[in-house]
Amino acid sequence: MDDLLNIMYKYQARVEQVLDQWLPCKKTLPGHLHEAMRYSVLNGGKRIRPILVYLTGEALGLKPETLDGSACAVELIHAYSLIHDDLPAMDDDDLRRGQATCHKAFDEATAILAGDALQSLAFQILAQDESMQTAPKIRLKMIQKLAEASGSHGMVGGQAIDLISEGQRISLAELENLHILKTGALIRASVQLGALNSPTHESNLLKKLDHYAKCIGLAFQVKDDILDVEGDTQTLGKPQGADLKHGKSTYPALVGVKEARQMAEDLHLDALHSLKGFGNEADPLRWISQYIIQRSN
Ligand code: IPE
Ligand code: IPE
Ligand code: MG
Ligand code: MG
Ligand code: MG
Repeated sequence: MDDLLNIMYKYQARVEQVLDQWLPCKKTLPGHLHEAMRYSVLNGGKRIRPILVYLTGEALGLKPETLDGSACAVELIHAYSLIHDDLPAMDDDDLRRGQATCHKAFDEATAILAGDALQSLAFQILAQDESMQTAPKIRLKMIQKLAEASGSHGMVGGQAIDLISEGQRISLAELENLHILKTGALIRASVQLGALNSPTHESNLLKKLDHYAKCIGLAFQVKDDILDVEGDTQTLGKPQGADLKHGKSTYPALVGVKEARQMAEDLHLDALHSLKGFGNEADPLRWISQYIIQRSN
């Protein structure tokens, strides 16, 4: 785990530096909007999605320089999704990453607009970044994958189902679909974007990576649900118990914490199994799968 933590620190620092360069300066107009964007992106966060871009690229023999654009793009979509997720019309939360949520630190309209602008910036980077050494056709594919993963058949669709499911008892299959969409889709896209940067067309390897990504994407949200029950607000940096308060459909609510833990463990084992064709170069991907189900925030 020490090795993984060092790798995570390295890539967290790397993506934060690149994000800082892409984000508009507070001094340019509209200053308050740019400040809200920077506030919500450069405020900690585990950076799991960009780390997955780098680790997937690393497993396929790529240099981090070519992956910076994809890493930033997925983190910007994630940051936008968190700003909107915390709004009063959605989860109505006041704390995120240990500080006031964007709509509390600024105001609701600014938070909505900051989220909108972060989403646009993500696609601008994929279209524009010069350090990405990919053919235009591949760049288009990345834009398509990220758009699909973010939209109504991906994250936004999952968020919509999450909200209409509040206070309802949904089936396990419906809950799995909700989690696959709201969180799994963007995690899957992070691995896909990492892989698309590589010239490899070995469909067998790419399929295995995709299955790995699906498993850890679902495991990530199962663990998020467990942490809402078992974690503490200080460590989480967001309010513990918020799911129960809102009558959210979660794994602990539907099957209990013990069973949810077992499901996360099974998904981790399935993820490891799908990396069988890879050697040591995929060890960090194996470690991060374990981290995802063991983390405390
Ligand atoms: C929280 O994501 C929202 C979910 C999709 C579960 P993270 O746990 O990755 O949040 P940060 O980026 O580290 O703050
Ligand atoms: C959020 O799920 C998923 C997205 C932001 C797309 P949650 O609502 O469970 O995330 P947290 O717990 O507020 O971070
Ligand atoms: Mg939510
Ligand atoms: Mg939430
Ligand atoms: Mg949650």
